[in-house]
Amino acid sequence: MAEFTLRLRRYDPESGAAPYWDEHTIDLEPHRSVLEGILQAKARFDGSIGIRCSCKAAICGSCGVRINGQPGLACHTHLDHALRGARDGVIEVEPMGNMPVIKDLIVDMDAVHWKKIHRVTPWLINKEPIPEREYVVPRESMVDITQSMACIQCGACVSDCLSMEVDPLFVGPAASAKAYRFVGDPRDAQQFERLQDLAEDPHGIYDCTHCFKCIDACPKGVAPMSQIMRLRRRAGNDHHIKDRNNGERHESAFVTLIKDYGLLHEAELLPRSYGGDSWFGKFHPKAGAELLDSLPAITKAVMRRKVSIKGALLGHKIPKADLNAVQRIYKKIEGRDERLELNLYITGYDEDVDGAETPPATAATGAGQPGAEPGQPGQTPEGSPSR
Ligand code: SF4
Ligand code: SF4
Ligand code: FES
Repeated sequence: MAEFTLRLRRYDPESGAAPYWDEHTIDLEPHRSVLEGILQAKARFDGSIGIRCSCKAAICGSCGVRINGQPGLACHTHLDHALRGARDGVIEVEPMGNMPVIKDLIVDMDAVHWKKIHRVTPWLINKEPIPEREYVVPRESMVDITQSMACIQCGACVSDCLSMEVDPLFVGPAASAKAYRFVGDPRDAQQFERLQDLAEDPHGIYDCTHCFKCIDACPKGVAPMSQIMRLRRRAGNDHHIKDRNNGERHESAFVTLIKDYGLLHEAELLPRSYGGDSWFGKFHPKAGAELLDSLPAITKAVMRRKVSIKGALLGHKIPKADLNAVQRIYKKIEGRDERLELNLYITGYDEDVDGAETPPATAATGAGQPGAEPGQPGQTPEGSPSR
């Protein structure tokens, strides 16, 4: 047994009182969970502490909280591990972010998380005619969506999504991962419509800023940001959806600029985003309007020396040999017959032929992530329950 002090964020909106911190010292073995610590504090000291839980085994997704500022599952975080991340020897537990607090550590998942999940039509829309027997699908196509199927709807990714903080209407990481679960399913009849809907929505897939927070937050290795990138590739590359938000063209402007210059050429970004790679594109009226709109941000960036006027206008030069090296990467990727989607979740290894190293998982190979820990995405086949 060891003693741990928990500092819990308490708040009851109905009381009219301000939030406050409450400390309790509990006795538990270090490998027991933060959830068990909270439940002991509740049983021994204060029965009014609000915490939601059910399975205590990282399955139901109901005990999402922030521990020492990081989102996660209280039942899936050992006390000794949490103590290592504590600033002053006290484990701090707060409710998740981006969702209103109902009481103490319980947030209103209906108000944000579930609303967004419903937004993406989270069920299979059958192709007609519906088969009378089992619908047999190729194994590879299901491998591609296994990662998104692992979601337990805990909301940890929603809690820390930076885009949602700025734009609460953003569809968000969990709902996007759910959307990919059906867009990638060969049995779904409305993949194009789903993609078009999410691309055209100003708060849809192009609202993500690639901050990686949701990947860090997810206790199940769903990597929501990667699912958003898959949705974008399907929308842009496979279905050629040019959304009216200009998300697809903006992303493609980044790609072509790096290919041409090796680094971002800021002054070219807007014209290419609106007018494409052509010379006439520079005079696209929307690019001019956007430039005017962005002037305050540009001025601030120049004042803070984040960009120089010369570098922005003329582009950043890199040595020819480096540019050639960058362009070789493009050539290699563009020269592939098919796109490889990395899937670091899959554990279904093929036999390790001739002792060769296991390749990273892809939709095509279904192999696992080398070096992953047991119980985590990409664990070894021996330690891996089949999913
Ligand atoms: S990567 Fe995108 S979806 Fe994920 S947390 Fe950041 S902004 Fe949100
Ligand atoms: S994607 Fe991960 S963090 Fe987000 S709700 Fe699903 S399991 Fe939780
Ligand atoms: S109690 Fe079910 S995931 Fe933690």
